[in-house]
Amino acid sequence: MTQVWPVDPQQPDPQTLARAGAVLRAGGLVAFPTETVYGLGAHALDPAAVARIFTAKGRPAHDPLIVHLADPTDLPRVARQVPDLAWRLWERFAPGPLTLVLPRHPAVPAAVTAGRDTVAVRIPAHPVALGLIRAAGVPVAAPSANKFGHTSPTTAQHVLDDLGGAVDVVLDAGPTPVGVESTILDLTQDPPVLLRPGGVPREALEAALGQPVRLAGTAATAAEVRAPGMLPRHYAPRVPLWLFDGPRDWAREALWQTAAQLTRGQGQRVAALVPREDAVRLRSLGVQVADLGPETDLEAVARALFAGLRALEAAAPDVILARTVGEADLGLAIADRLRRAAAQVLRPPAPRA
Ligand code: TXA
Ligand code: MG
Repeated sequence: MTQVWPVDPQQPDPQTLARAGAVLRAGGLVAFPTETVYGLGAHALDPAAVARIFTAKGRPAHDPLIVHLADPTDLPRVARQVPDLAWRLWERFAPGPLTLVLPRHPAVPAAVTAGRDTVAVRIPAHPVALGLIRAAGVPVAAPSANKFGHTSPTTAQHVLDDLGGAVDVVLDAGPTPVGVESTILDLTQDPPVLLRPGGVPREALEAALGQPVRLAGTAATAAEVRAPGMLPRHYAPRVPLWLFDGPRDWAREALWQTAAQLTRGQGQRVAALVPREDAVRLRSLGVQVADLGPETDLEAVARALFAGLRALEAAAPDVILARTVGEADLGLAIADRLRRAAAQVLRPPAPRA
């Protein structure tokens, strides 16, 4: 039986956190809000508890978990060596949506890191997450609290939709403020490699590091995967999504044309996951629209992205149309999630030579 415990996102009740912390310490599963998405937490140093995460999610054992801490001074408990660079980045970005890959401390069970010699660590910037980790008094392993391969959850209801019954407690603090997962930076490679774009924009990392950051390519096969989040399809909705991926004017127009053709010509039920600028015109076609907010407000678009995808998926249209919103700032993480969700990626025709 899953219990849902409401908590205030800014000032969570200490007694509720203490009870949830005790569930974690005893080997239970607690889903909790972070600033990015809801996580499915377990005692990171307890292999049996960690195993329950994989079972609940249906997650393959080769996909490692992020370890969540409340305090940078706990880093040496989970990483056997902490480079100066990690401290520098931590000073600037922790707590926050930045995950660092570091050499694994032997205290971290192999199940957490999928047998790797590295461990991914982050300090979430959410009062409920921080309070829970402190109350538990142990590092907390937590993937996103969705079924493996499904869209990440940004509300407690999303968690229940995917994992109801499989989790002991869900701490419900309302929707998460960032909406896309953390940026993952691998510090065990020199120079550091961006494994997953996320809530901390690449530009901010580059400014802090004083050098360009290389983005790991999409892995072609599971064997090459460094962060299995890099698998080409990872955030797949249950309805085919066609992504218009290219310059704004082309993408808007191509999406519109396709919507018109499918609705008028073929009588299909079309849904669209688009910025506000596109919404009115599409609605006039009878398209069901999930409004992501103004295109100029990338934070709003990121926050609305996964909930919009889930809402459209629940309406079971024939197809979901979406478009990218550039690659600057949070646009890169948004484009990355949309590409992984897409059954088909459409790009503008190459200019003729
Ligand atoms: O924002 C987030 O990061 C959320 C919240 C809950 O913290 N968590 C999250 O976890 O997105 P998950 O498990 O859904 O994605 C973590 C990614 C996976 O793609 C995993 O492969 C990668 O991190 N990862 C974990 N440990 C790693 C390691 N040692 N080396 C490389 N990649 C790693
Ligand atoms: Mg995930």
